[in-house]
Parts: sequence; structure tokens; C-alpha cells
Amino acid sequence: MERLKIKELLDGKHLGEDVEVKGWVRTRRGNKQVQFVQLNDGSTIKNLQIVFDMKKFSDEDMKPITTGSSLRVTGRLVESLGAGQSCELQADEIEVYGTAPSDYPLQKKGHSLEFLRDKAHLRPRTNTFSAIMRIRSALAFAIHKFFQEKGFVYLNTPLITASDCEGAGAMFQVTTLPLDNLPRTEDGKIDYSQDFFGKPTSLTVSGQLEGELGATALGEIYTFGPTFRAENSNTPRHLAEFWMVEPEMAFYDINANMDLAEEFIKYCIRYALDNCRDDIEFMNERFDPELIDRLNFVLNHDFQRLTYTEGVEILKNSGKKFEFPVDWGTDLQSEHERYLVEEHFKKPVILTDYPKEIKAFYMKQNEDGKTVRAMDVLFPKIGEIIGGSEREADYDKLKKRIDELHIPAKDMWWYLETRKYGTVPHSGFGLGFERLVLFVTAMQNIRDVIPFPRYPKNADF
Ligand code: 4AD
Ligand code: MG
Repeated sequence: MERLKIKELLDGKHLGEDVEVKGWVRTRRGNKQVQFVQLNDGSTIKNLQIVFDMKKFSDEDMKPITTGSSLRVTGRLVESLGAGQSCELQADEIEVYGTAPSDYPLQKKGHSLEFLRDKAHLRPRTNTFSAIMRIRSALAFAIHKFFQEKGFVYLNTPLITASDCEGAGAMFQVTTLPLDNLPRTEDGKIDYSQDFFGKPTSLTVSGQLEGELGATALGEIYTFGPTFRAENSNTPRHLAEFWMVEPEMAFYDINANMDLAEEFIKYCIRYALDNCRDDIEFMNERFDPELIDRLNFVLNHDFQRLTYTEGVEILKNSGKKFEFPVDWGTDLQSEHERYLVEEHFKKPVILTDYPKEIKAFYMKQNEDGKTVRAMDVLFPKIGEIIGGSEREADYDKLKKRIDELHIPAKDMWWYLETRKYGTVPHSGFGLGFERLVLFVTAMQNIRDVIPFPRYPKNADF
């Protein structure tokens, strides 16, 4: 007999057939005549009810079937008379793969998300985390589908790098030098010539710089992979290891870049609504009754586009007391972003043309000499979900900015050569994948939308 997934069994096409199913026991209840087991195999949020006729099974048979144990069951799939399920399996034969003693941590329902974070090795067995992981997986697929359908090339950029793309200095160093006995040069500095790569290297904060190399050859590329930031921000929106999607497009100006970003996010949300209905409904019911409305709202509205300067004016005139004061030139905090999105415009916002001092060196400089062609997409509940820009395509302007910021030009020669040979206007952006998953699941903490979160003082599992 071929094993079927619970998702397939519940669609009703196998009614009346003898089938085999495998999974983990969520609960067992019943009496001396009949026992009911709720079985889940991860294929859907829904459980399959297994009915044990106690004329066929002994108490001894049932003893190992406790919450958390794993089973193979064969039997007849029949229509269910009970509320809450369309069909159920009448057990004929069972095999227990693994028992779960009474110290199994997920005994009863309703554990706090904090408790489950400490049990990250088991939490995918809960309804909430299995739903989140399926939604996350579907969104990852949607990302590839969107770009592949548009003819973008999936480019794998390196994770180990010698350059700091964002210039924020929040990089994790990668070294094989013995930390308790560092080799020194004659003037006492660390001798990196003896390190694995012969120079200092780190985990990448962004694949963008290499992405630009791809775009200026292949036209349109995207990356999708892990990125690492050693910023000590213990916030519900930051991880030390997160996944980023970075499209980079030759011949796109900032407006085409914004159009793509908006179309892209809407496509992903639409895909999740169409393909993860049960899971999103569960999250809506369990965590946020406005989730589905909010997702549809984003799909049905144009994002509000305005400049940073206009945004700052709105914030200053809002009469609202912010924890961090705003003035032209300061970086916007999450509270400012959320005010613009949630209270002022009441829809997603794209802010452009930020002061050059608070943005990275590679952004295209505006004629005013003060601002750059940056764009941040700001979302309700999230704040910044995408950061991007048109890139500075002019060799001299770029080189000047690199020098002003004291970025060692000798390390950037390869990047500068894209501007020396056949330079083109081009643009790109980075979407924080976990922030998208946060938005689609209504979770509040980014540590709950990645299987094994990495954050300060935590690298368990
Ligand atoms: O705004 P950021 O720093 O932009 C870049 O890295 C550019 N190189 C992207 C590009 O133009 N190709 O990061 C992009 C996005 C942010 O908008 C945010 O969604 C997410 O990455 N992000 C984080 N997500 C989780 N944890 C962190 N520590 C994050 N830092 C940034
Ligand atoms: Mg940013």
C-alpha cells in the first residue's frame, strides 16, 4: 500500500479506499469502546482523525500511542460523522515507530511563543510553527517563480567576502587564525597574510555588489540567500542571520525599481493567499483577526510614493511626540516609518531621495548635492521591508564618494570597473525575507518566522 499524505486524504478523493498514513500523534481520547487519535504529518495544518474500534485493539496496543509518538496506520478512509472533519480513518493495523514519554514538552496546547523559542527543535510540530514554515516555504517558491517568469537570472553571490557593502561595519569576521596566539607583523599588527584567504574576510551583509556585476552582464538578476549582520540590535525585527532577496537590473531607473518592488511584494502576498489558505486562515483566527483584510488591503492599493524630505515635513507637522526626534538629516526610526504608514497614509509607503549621509556609498547622487536616489518600502506593522536605490553609474562621482568615505579603493577596483567599462544606469533593492514572512503570518517577532533564529547571545540548535 502506498503511503498518502494527510493533505491528500482530506481532499476526499480517496473515500472508501484502504490507505496507509504516517505521522505524529497530537492527542488521543476516548473510552473502552472507541478511541480517537488526531494524527498530523506536517502536510497540512489539519489533523486526520484515526478511529480505533476497541474490539480490534487492546489497551496494551493503545498504551504507546501518546501525544508526540509516531505511527504508521492502515485502514479504511470513511466519511466522518463528527464535527470538524470531512473524513476519518478506521484503523486496521498500526505500527508505532517511536514512543514519546510523558516528559514530551509539547503535551498540552497553548504554549507561549517564548517557551516555544527555547524548544525550537520541536516547535515545528505545533500548529503555529508548521503553518509559519509552510507559508515561509511557499513565499520562497513565489520569489523564484516571480523572477524566473520575468527572465531574471538567479545569481549566487559569495557568503564570504572582503568588502563591506553597506559600510555599517556590522560584519562577522571569518578567520582560521589561532585566536589565542595571533601571528603578528613586525610592527605588531595581526598578520593576515597567514590567514586562510591571505587577508581579512567576513560573512557578507549583502550580495548587492556582486549582484551589480551580474546585472551589468546578464541584464536582470536576483539573489536569494543568507546574509549576516553583527549589529547588536535585540529588536523584534532584526536577526544576525537573515535571508535577503536582491534583484539588480540594468537599464532601470529609480521609478522602474519602485514599480518592480511593488509588483514583486504584491505577487508574493497574492501567491501566499492563493496557496496557503488554510495556514493563513489559522494565523488570522489564532493571532490577528485583521490579517487577511490587511493582506488584501495591500494588494488593492497603490503604495504611496514621496520623498524623504516630504516625509520629514509630515512627521514634524504631525504634532506627535516621538521617542526619537525627527529633523532633516536624521535616519528614520521604526516609530516614524510606522506613523507615516499606519496613521498618516494608512497604506504602504515608498520613501525616496534620502540624505546621502545616512545612506550607502553606491547610491546615485542627485543634482542637489545633498540627497541620493534611495528608496525604502515601508509596511504596516513592519516598518522597512525593502531598501534599495538607483546606483551611481558615473565613475568619477562614485570614486569621489568612495574616497570621501575612506573606503579603501584598492579593495573596490573590480566594482569600479563596471563603471569604467560599458557603464549603464541600473537599480536594485533588497527585501528582508523574514520581514515579508512576518507580514504574511501576523507574527510579531522575527525570531518566530525562521526555523532556527540567530541573535545576540543565541546560536542554539
Ligand atoms: O536596507 P538594507 O541594509 O539594504 C541592503 O543591504 C542593500 N544592499 C539592498 C540592495 O539594494 N540590494 O537591507 C535590505 C533589507 C531591509 O529593508 C530589511 O528588510 C532587511 O533587509 N534587513 C534585515 N532583516 C532582518 N534582520 C536584520 N538585521 C536586517 N537588516 C536588514
Ligand atoms: Mg535599509
